[in-house]
Amino acid sequence: MYNNIFDSHAHYTDKAFNSDRENMLGSLKESGICGVINCGADLESSKEALSLSEKYDYLYFACGVHPEEVEKLPENYIEILKDLARHKKCVAIGEIGLDYYWRQDTKEKQKEVFENQIILAKELDLPIIVHDREAHGDTLEILKKHKPTGVLHCFSGSVETAKEVLKLGLYIGFGGALTFKNARKAVEVAEMLPLDRLLLETDCPYMAPVPMRGKRNDSSLIPYVAEKMAEIKNTSAQQILDIATNNTKELFGI
Ligand code: NI
Repeated sequence: MYNNIFDSHAHYTDKAFNSDRENMLGSLKESGICGVINCGADLESSKEALSLSEKYDYLYFACGVHPEEVEKLPENYIEILKDLARHKKCVAIGEIGLDYYWRQDTKEKQKEVFENQIILAKELDLPIIVHDREAHGDTLEILKKHKPTGVLHCFSGSVETAKEVLKLGLYIGFGGALTFKNARKAVEVAEMLPLDRLLLETDCPYMAPVPMRGKRNDSSLIPYVAEKMAEIKNTSAQQILDIATNNTKELFGI
């Protein structure tokens, strides 16, 4: 059995956990989980992530507005996020970023909200957790402009984009997608990635790794991702878990 598993990106406020959330969160430590960062996707889920972090010692949170949620924001959303981020278990602003796969029509608003949240993160001296889907060019441009610390989660870009990301001092997060049959690009990025920039994550309830693909994901499935990464890096899965946990603690100041 593995231990020292840190899930750097989860969504335990998702309705997929409504039926057994407390049981699930109460049992994760028995599966070797030492920490989880629960990410907000909008103001509501950010507040819920804060509340959950007060109930479980190993649970931390990030507050932020996801690019698919930028339309219905109140004018004072940055003030609201700032209040949440002052909580002692808030370790990042996230998840934030750009998504041109689902939404092309809100590009300008997405960029504005992304930049405002990066500025907030820098003001509070917090790292950011970045979502980038089909928006690699604009994401990189904004990251180069503001130079925040943080992670590109569930990285889906090319080796070239990954190299740019590393040059900016950012980390790269890998989850279940690394184990998928069509993961050629992710495997190439993993081969190139220096281990001191690696984070592991679930993005649960989504992205369950093979052989659980399609089922509800949770932090106890991270070893499948670590095993795949260990195969690519020619080391042991526990070694990968240990390195990723150290990196996560260092980046998020835990
Ligand atoms: Ni996510």
